[in-house]
Amino acid sequence: MFTDTHCHIYKEYYENIDEILKRALESNINRVINNGCNRESNKEVLALANTYNNMYIALGIHPESADTYQKEDLTFIEENLSNPKVIAIGEIGLDYHYTKENKTLQIKLLESQLKIAETHNLPVIIHSREATEDTINTLKKYHIKGVIHSFSGSLETAKIYIKMGYLLGINGVITFKNSKLKEVIKELPLEHLVLETDSPYLTPEPFRGKPNEPARIKEIATFISELKGISLEELARITNENIMRIFDI
Ligand code: NI
Repeated sequence: MFTDTHCHIYKEYYENIDEILKRALESNINRVINNGCNRESNKEVLALANTYNNMYIALGIHPESADTYQKEDLTFIEENLSNPKVIAIGEIGLDYHYTKENKTLQIKLLESQLKIAETHNLPVIIHSREATEDTINTLKKYHIKGVIHSFSGSLETAKIYIKMGYLLGINGVITFKNSKLKEVIKELPLEHLVLETDSPYLTPEPFRGKPNEPARIKEIATFISELKGISLEELARITNENIMRIFDI
């Protein structure tokens, strides 16, 4: 059994969430970590987690809301951390792809949430796009565990995160023909990896271009097990152990 450690299962993307989770289970994916990214989706994942036993959740404000979030959105997160389904703060981080003009605000929002995680002894799920240096420097200020979601950086960057105690979240990007990620992952011990889909985004080959869903962990797991020359069972065992080191799941 595998876990999808990062997805966005919201009603705006999926008409029939029952069906999506059923298909996941049929493909041996028995747990998902549904990530909120703003006030609305944080509310939604909390409600969904009440309905679905095998859905765990992370609450957070994504850097794309750095200009628009309200202080109350952070209060809302803190108020809901006693819910046993909340196992992390995420998706949080830095994204300089579209703009770095609000860099200061992005770092401020990230730090506010890292403080919440540290105070409540929760792991974090980090989004970092074209912002490696600032991400590393910011994370270094806090004593927290977590996952670098959608990792696609260099071997050198991977080693820095691993040394800091972070796991690397690997998704469909590794199956893309032009991706250099497979060369990096070949060099890394499996003890530092977890699998994720980032559904509804980043659908693995051969389904690239179609909407993604947690069942597609199967394609990602198959790709990695072939790359590493190990069985799917062994990959499931190691990645589940990694998850248990970080998450109270
Ligand atoms: Ni995401």
